[in-house]
Amino acid sequence: MQTEQIVRTFVEYFEERGHRRVTGSTLLPPSGDPVLFTTSGMHPLTPYLLGRPHPLGRRLVNVQRCLRTTDLEEVGDDTHLTVFEMLGSWSLGDYEGPQSLDWGHRLLTEGLGIDPSLLYATVFAGDEQTGPDTDSLGLLQERGVPVELTVEDNWWSNGPVGPCGPDSEIFLWSGDTPPRSTPTGDDRWVEVWNHVMMRHRRLEDGSLVPLPQRSVDTGLGLERLACLLQGKSSVFDCDVFEPWHRLVPSLWPLDEPSLRPVVDHLRSSVVVVGDGVRPSATGQGYVLRRLVRRVLTTLWRDEPSRTLGDLPDELLLHTLDHFRQDVDPGEVRQVLLDEERRFGRLMERGRQLLARPRFQGPLGDEDFHYLHDTHGLPRDLVLNLREE
Ligand code: SER
Repeated sequence: MQTEQIVRTFVEYFEERGHRRVTGSTLLPPSGDPVLFTTSGMHPLTPYLLGRPHPLGRRLVNVQRCLRTTDLEEVGDDTHLTVFEMLGSWSLGDYEGPQSLDWGHRLLTEGLGIDPSLLYATVFAGDEQTGPDTDSLGLLQERGVPVELTVEDNWWSNGPVGPCGPDSEIFLWSGDTPPRSTPTGDDRWVEVWNHVMMRHRRLEDGSLVPLPQRSVDTGLGLERLACLLQGKSSVFDCDVFEPWHRLVPSLWPLDEPSLRPVVDHLRSSVVVVGDGVRPSATGQGYVLRRLVRRVLTTLWRDEPSRTLGDLPDELLLHTLDHFRQDVDPGEVRQVLLDEERRFGRLMERGRQLLARPRFQGPLGDEDFHYLHDTHGLPRDLVLNLREE
């Protein structure tokens, strides 16, 4: 099943059950938001989860692009991407968690054809502030889903303060043996769909107060589900990456551990530029800068003449089109090339500086500070240059 078809099946399933589709936001949260990028489908809906009435009603569904910098170091494994899409459904003070889990389970098994014996769920076991989520446990057991109880892993929040609550996570077995163990015991159980019972708000002092309404917020990682439904072992092998796999290796022969982050970071950079961000020394622009520079560091390790100017138009167009960004690919290419030039000049300056006698021995903190503060050379870059 292709990604587009999964999206259609998901959205229609919830529309048939009274949900209205909300247009996904860009990756840029509204000004004043403490987070740099939209990190989950619920993020743009936070005011409504806190109690403000939504103009489209109490049942919503959407597809939201998200970016998580916390996952940057994990990109390259089988399940993490920097930019990914989340399918979401919401009850804003309408139905409760068991209804959401019931629909979730039916959609996965009946709508998307997943063998029920390949599913497992985790449910909140309770802690000193909040009791166990017996309603979710009851529903999942009724549906015949095995359940593991956990504490920290089944509490969802978007930060230290704000809306939060116990969650129930549905996992799908990705192994090529029959399922074994439990989600916390075997990482071949891949989390695909999180159902959060948004009932609390955490205050600065760590205490919890009830929200004015009991809501449900669900998020399903699209590429993860697509890869499993397509019988692939990694998100990089699902259909959205097809053109990248077809075109990048012939352009830049890279081993698989290098190829994955290069593809992820380039695709993410295109989307971030498409949403209007430009490389800079702080904030969103700095995240973009890091993505592009990580790509270039890998590309130039083997062959310094490689350039982002060689990226085929098809890859830029495919990505902008997929994320419905009405942006000229030539403009995106120019942003990437400008950053490439800046980084190239910085590398050159770094090489000249590091050739000085002062930097021939082991480098101390003072050297790193000097190179960074006076010459703009970040520690990572210095370490890379020393390895050349
Ligand atoms: N907020 C939850 C998550 O991001 C469910 O949408 O996983």
